[in-house]
Amino acid sequence: YTVDWDAAAAEKGGFSSFMDKEIHDQPHAVADTLLGRTDPSGKLVLDDLRIDEAVLRSVDKIIVVACGTAAYSGHVAKYAIEHWCRIPVEVELAHEFRYRDPIVDEKTLVVAVTQSGETMDTLMAVRHAREQGAKVISIVNTHGSTIPRESDAVLYTHAGPEIAVASTKAFLSQITAAYLLGLYLAQLRGNKFPDEISAILEDLRDMPRKIQTVIERGEYVRATARSMKDAKSVLFLGRHVGFPVALEGALKLKELAYIHAEGFAAGELKHGPIALIDEGQPVFVVVPSPKGREGLHSKVISNIQEIRARGARTLVIAEDGDDAVRPYADEIFWIPESATLLSPLLAVVPLQIFAMALATAKGLDVDQPRNLAKSVTVE
Ligand code: AGP
Repeated sequence: YTVDWDAAAAEKGGFSSFMDKEIHDQPHAVADTLLGRTDPSGKLVLDDLRIDEAVLRSVDKIIVVACGTAAYSGHVAKYAIEHWCRIPVEVELAHEFRYRDPIVDEKTLVVAVTQSGETMDTLMAVRHAREQGAKVISIVNTHGSTIPRESDAVLYTHAGPEIAVASTKAFLSQITAAYLLGLYLAQLRGNKFPDEISAILEDLRDMPRKIQTVIERGEYVRATARSMKDAKSVLFLGRHVGFPVALEGALKLKELAYIHAEGFAAGELKHGPIALIDEGQPVFVVVPSPKGREGLHSKVISNIQEIRARGARTLVIAEDGDDAVRPYADEIFWIPESATLLSPLLAVVPLQIFAMALATAKGLDVDQPRNLAKSVTVE
């Protein structure tokens, strides 16, 4: 059996790897996930979401079940959906959900997030939820897969086939689809005024352009990664929606460069993790917009001061023009301004590029990392 590398290379659109191609596909993945989901008046219409509106109006709790990167997209969406819908949103790792004896009933909406639609842990959680009487909506990228067939309704992400084992464009399109679901619920339940929803949708439609800007700034991230190829451990800090971004950044580095990496809520530093900081310890910090929720930005700036004072090498993801980070950052990876809730779509991109570049510098296979499968179809 010989691989037709020319055909494979053509499939990669001339990119060095599927992962590089899929990082570059992200603006399209978000734009295509948004496409056709509003009517000319700007109202959300989720045609593929075949679930009775009265059922959705009666929902009093949402539980997201997913694994890995998909769980982190649900964690990001939790902040937005709770803010827009005023419904409690729990995010549960699918493999923990079933054994937790969860409180689920006919007013619980379970949202299963899965790129492959075949993850056995997530499928088992879906089956358990339905046995308990919950309605299940799945957010899926792979048409015709198992989990949508066993859900009450499906909201497809249109990221296109994701070949690289490490998920990138699916993550951004999962956040996008979960936001569409949250806005749709808010619209149904009258929580938000139409003009507020259309303003958020307008911002969302502008995100592909901003994601492209971050991708075009990638060379500085790659050069930094190459200079750190011997790193033994990297920490990631974030607050609010930046916290799941930190978790995702750490996962990318683990699975691509086989380096110990850990994401923390920045507020946790004082409660233990700061003991890890010694001279030269690389720490990524996802800094929220200075125009965002009161207190978030200043608290993260003080977190950077705390770790820098203890010798950390601070690698900061910050919004264009945020000069407050300059005195404490060894490296700054700038991202365009955006609403706080949309910033994960931008902040994660330098972390994806960093992980891929560091793995490449170590001569590792970024499309097929060791020990990993694209879809974990066993429990
Ligand atoms: C992501 O980079 C990982 N490969 C992995 O965590 C993945 O997100 C997880 O296994 C869930 O897969 P799914 O989205 O296909 O259910």
